Amino acid sequence: MKTYKVIVAGATGMVGRKMLQVLEERKFPVGELIPMASARSAGNTVSFNGKIWNVQELNEENIKKSGAEIALFSAGGSVSKEFAPICAKYGILVIDNSSAWRMDPNVPLVVPEVNREKIFSGSKIIANPNCSTIQMVVVLKPLHDKYKIKRVVVSTYQSVTGAGQKGHDQLIKEWNEEEIKEMKFPHQISFNAIPHIDDFLDSGYTKEEMKMVNETKKIMGDNSIEVSPTCVRIPTIGGHSESVNIEFEKSFELDEVKKILSNAPGIIVQDKPMEKIYPMPIWAHDKDETFVGRIRRDETVKNGLNLWVVSDNIRKGAATNAVQIAEEFIKGK
Ligand SMILES: NC(=O)c1ccc[n+]([C@@H]2O[C@H](COP(=O)([O-])OP(=O)(O)OC[C@H]3O[C@@H](n4cnc5c(N)ncnc54)[C@H](OP(=O)(O)O)[C@@H]3O)[C@@H](O)[C@H]2O)c1
Repeated sequence: MKTYKVIVAGATGMVGRKMLQVLEERKFPVGELIPMASARSAGNTVSFNGKIWNVQELNEENIKKSGAEIALFSAGGSVSKEFAPICAKYGILVIDNSSAWRMDPNVPLVVPEVNREKIFSGSKIIANPNCSTIQMVVVLKPLHDKYKIKRVVVSTYQSVTGAGQKGHDQLIKEWNEEEIKEMKFPHQISFNAIPHIDDFLDSGYTKEEMKMVNETKKIMGDNSIEVSPTCVRIPTIGGHSESVNIEFEKSFELDEVKKILSNAPGIIVQDKPMEKIYPMPIWAHDKDETFVGRIRRDETVKNGLNLWVVSDNIRKGAATNAVQIAEEFIKGK
């Protein structure tokens, strides 16, 4: 079997470590792993497939001599902006987790369950969408195909892990009443809900909210879908949750909606509210699928549907989606 030389840029971070786990679990054919991070981590090691691998500094010289074919990036936007084109120059396919390239018209933005075909556009950089957007579009796509979505109102309940290792650590330190030298969130996160993720824009929306608006249109390939988002950080760890209200052009039957979602790729329907079964971060944690429940009609509008959608933001929202793109790429058209 052909194997690949794979760079994982940001291998010491929260998403990068999960990428290593997911590559291993899904038996991606890695012949040689090239873990990279900042100069701070050069010389450290990571373990992968039962071996210890040295972390290298991410720089042009190391990229050039790596001979890699695929690079999975999760080292932040400015790092991707600088080094993704350098990888592309050496013929390496980059799958980038940051927001740096997502809205570039020449870069495909891919969720394999939704727009797998874009992987083969010829671009050497493929962008992985924002975590909150990925889990939502996995659910929207099969419903849009059948009933055509007019408008989505989404409110998110996002895990502290969405802010990386430092976000996770702030919550744990607050719980343990340890001193926090550098606050990752603008306020205490324990026992709190903060309606503020990423920077505010003049419009009053945050950048995180506008990612949900713009990325949804691009991935679904339909600019007519209106998205009205509110993104909130809450003190959970296992995944992001979303209340999703959808208005369709066409009428629907609830039983048919449940059947469509049950048969759609990457989705598990958890919808037995009388038995207290509905998606929750503690159940979605460390799973690859997107979980949907509380499936019910919005009785206040024509053709309205309410859903509760939960997924592990570090897996499907980041690492798993990136590894799936790599899997589809090596499978080919
Ligand atoms: N957390 C999520 O839910 C999520 C979801 C989707 C996408 N993402 C995106 O994935 C990226 C990483 O997020 P994360 O949560 O894993 O953050 P993180 O835990 O803070 O990890 C950051 C990683 O980037 C590396 N890095 C930082 N500066 C670097 C530089 N100048 N050169 C090379 N490597 C550098 C770090 O290496 P050192 O250890 O050496 O500092 C570390 O490996 C971000 O772009 C984020 O937006 C995150």
